Amino acid sequence: MSEAKRFYVTSPIYYVNDKPHIGHAYTSLACDALARFMRLDGREVMFLTGTDEHGQKVEKAATAAGEAPQDFVDRISEPFRGLSKLLAFTNDDFIRTTEPRHKTSVQQLWRELVARDQIYLGTYAGWYSVRDEAFHAESELVDGKAPSGAPVEWVEEPSYFFRLSAWQDRLLAFYDENPDFVLPGSRRNEVVSFVKGGLDDLSVSRTSFKWGVPVPDDPDHVMYVWIDALTNYLTGVGYPDTGGAGYRRFWPADVHIVGKDILRFHAVYWPAFLMAADLPPPRRIFAHGWWTNEGQKISKSLGNIIDTSALVERYGVDQVRYFLLREVPFGNDGDFSHRAMVSRANNDLANDYGNLVQRVLSMINRYCGGAVPAPAANDGCHVDPSVLDAVISLRHAHGLLRKVRPLMQRQAFHSALERIWLVVKEANVNVDHLAPWVLRKSDPERMKEVLYALAEVIRHLAITSQPFMPESTARILDQLAVPEDQRTFAHLNPGNRVTDENSLAPGTPLPKPEGVFPRYVEHGAEAAR
Ligand code: MSP
Repeated sequence: MSEAKRFYVTSPIYYVNDKPHIGHAYTSLACDALARFMRLDGREVMFLTGTDEHGQKVEKAATAAGEAPQDFVDRISEPFRGLSKLLAFTNDDFIRTTEPRHKTSVQQLWRELVARDQIYLGTYAGWYSVRDEAFHAESELVDGKAPSGAPVEWVEEPSYFFRLSAWQDRLLAFYDENPDFVLPGSRRNEVVSFVKGGLDDLSVSRTSFKWGVPVPDDPDHVMYVWIDALTNYLTGVGYPDTGGAGYRRFWPADVHIVGKDILRFHAVYWPAFLMAADLPPPRRIFAHGWWTNEGQKISKSLGNIIDTSALVERYGVDQVRYFLLREVPFGNDGDFSHRAMVSRANNDLANDYGNLVQRVLSMINRYCGGAVPAPAANDGCHVDPSVLDAVISLRHAHGLLRKVRPLMQRQAFHSALERIWLVVKEANVNVDHLAPWVLRKSDPERMKEVLYALAEVIRHLAITSQPFMPESTARILDQLAVPEDQRTFAHLNPGNRVTDENSLAPGTPLPKPEGVFPRYVEHGAEAAR
């Protein structure tokens, strides 16, 4: 497979100081939708996620829990691994920074930096925020706190420094040469102006605590948790074995998807570390926005953390996946509310998509003897070409992937779903206007053509929307008797002919149709509200 055909996507690795919540699920979900899309599009994909287990923040959480750090991280990383099962994520690997493979990798990167004189020993005196695991200059503080509002403490200790200041021009040139390195564009501007403002050398080791990867040849120091954490992206593809298949196939990563709060680490420090070690930087950093809960900032102290498993249990896995990717343009902040969630589940899924599938499949079941309609063959096609003018949604279903692909290549998930929904809605209009239940009496041959065309629209819609709603779309494709090995984008009709070799085979028996997107019904107290 050629290099262009490969795709490497990563989520951030999550701090194991707490239970996974909607914010964590969101970043991984975006990666999953992208990974699934690229696989269906014929690319060889590597999707990496995992947990960030070192640093002062995790050490403090372990102490608070009265556990040894290793026992604590072993226990807390499990629910993060469990997110994949809960939300149907298809990550190819799950990395933990306490694994030996990672320690080897990050120590090697350190050695490469030392060998190139990119790291020197000095003394750090300044502010540190444990919550953000970030150093802050006095001038950055706002009312004595970090810009994020996190408390800071004064730190004065021997420290190794990375010569970040020397990379300012190279970074600016790199952003210039790669205009889509940071998306969305507004975030790119933020990064560029931060770098233009001047960069200080970065403290990359600590001596005041122990829970980290030891600095090679100086065990009094542990590495700063961000140099440790970022290197997971290399470890995941087999670094330091740069001759190995993983690294050669997948590095540089195509996209690191991250939240806006950790953009600076990814878009400034990470490419600088890599360039300084003579390794290619990733191709893109996409920074998404933050979710609030019913208008309020999500925080442990407010007690309004949205627990992912409760969410999935209440609304359904595909409903949650759809909501998160459709409700908010990827990159913007968004608000989670029960009302908005129910509205998406009931309007977009149950009414629009669900109804289309249900109506068409039940008509086929009742009027066509429970088998794919079999209109009289026409010029080697299964249906008369004129049906494309009547069932206009089929023409658009054929062209759908061409519209959706460039959107997915820019992580515009919401726009991709909007595109898909244009066809869903159009198909519903086609059903209403063409009224197969009327044709059944007036022109049964035409009815078969129309229902056949609509079944093809549904096949296209289901195949194209698999990355977003994998479980429901699998059930739709089962109901159309589409074999499991015929569900990739290569099985979509590019639209040169009304039907092609992948089109539904007339006469194929179909299982009895069942609803796929149930309506959410309010119960008890909720209903009274
Ligand atoms: N460990 C670091 C990342 C290291 S990557 C080399 C970290 N971990 S985290 O657990 O605090 O956050 C991980 C991700 O969750 C971030 O991308 C962050 O933006 C995201 N979210 C946490 N809360 C969020 C919301 N309320 N909304 C959306 N995403 C949020 O940072």
